[in-house]
Amino acid sequence: MDRETLIRAPRELRTPRLLLAAPRPEFAAPFVASLNRSLPGLGYIAWAQRPQTPDWAVRFMRGGLEDVEAGEYLVFYAFLPGREPDEGYVGRIDLHSWDFEAPRCEVGYVGDSRHAGRGLMREAVLACVQLAFGLGAARVQALSEAGNARALHFAERALGFVREGVLRHYERDAQGRLGDQVMFAAYNPDAR
Ligand SMILES: CC(C)(COP(=O)(O)OP(=O)(O)OC[C@H]1O[C@@H](n2cnc3c(N)ncnc32)[C@H](O)[C@@H]1OP(=O)(O)O)[C@@H](O)C(=O)NCCC(=O)NCCS
Repeated sequence: MDRETLIRAPRELRTPRLLLAAPRPEFAAPFVASLNRSLPGLGYIAWAQRPQTPDWAVRFMRGGLEDVEAGEYLVFYAFLPGREPDEGYVGRIDLHSWDFEAPRCEVGYVGDSRHAGRGLMREAVLACVQLAFGLGAARVQALSEAGNARALHFAERALGFVREGVLRHYERDAQGRLGDQVMFAAYNPDAR
């Protein structure tokens, strides 16, 4: 694997209930509306500590698109097809921190609070994991702060990832406090 693998990767994915697409300027509005609506549950997300503006979202979307086009990582915005974008916005999933030698990557996810508990983020994230495996990743990992109970439950129970252990004093949290992270992973059965 290398950057070219990511540059050539699909920009759209379909699941039974969702359409996932790489960043587009028109996603900025539903994304920032969702973020601002979901803020009470986003205490562990560094870039979601305060309400964000439409201009910030346009810049965020543009930066994401540039990074995807450069093969840095993959990002998908998940929607319920047939709904208005704002109403149908479900969440954002990224495949980042690629190590092309292993090869492996990390998955990150932020869901819209309106659609929580319907299995939609599970469906979206698992589609991205399958994409990573299809591109050649041997392992997809997820790191969650040890106190992020919902994320820990989601990784282990909804995604079925293996809980590998705790990384102590691993990084600073959104408030700057030194914290522990729980490492989860899924393994590609076809990896050699
Ligand atoms: C972690 C997060 C993405 C989970 O999102 P979510 O919308 O709750 O995810 P899902 O609905 O897919 O979760 C699965 C739940 O749906 C239920 N479900 C309902 N219908 C389902 C279906 N058809 N198929 C599978 N599961 C279904 C599952 O039973 C499960 O319920 P449970 O949580 O009571 O066990 C979300 O909480 C979030 O964005 N948190 C804030 C950001 C964050 O911390 N991200 C992680 C950083 S490491």
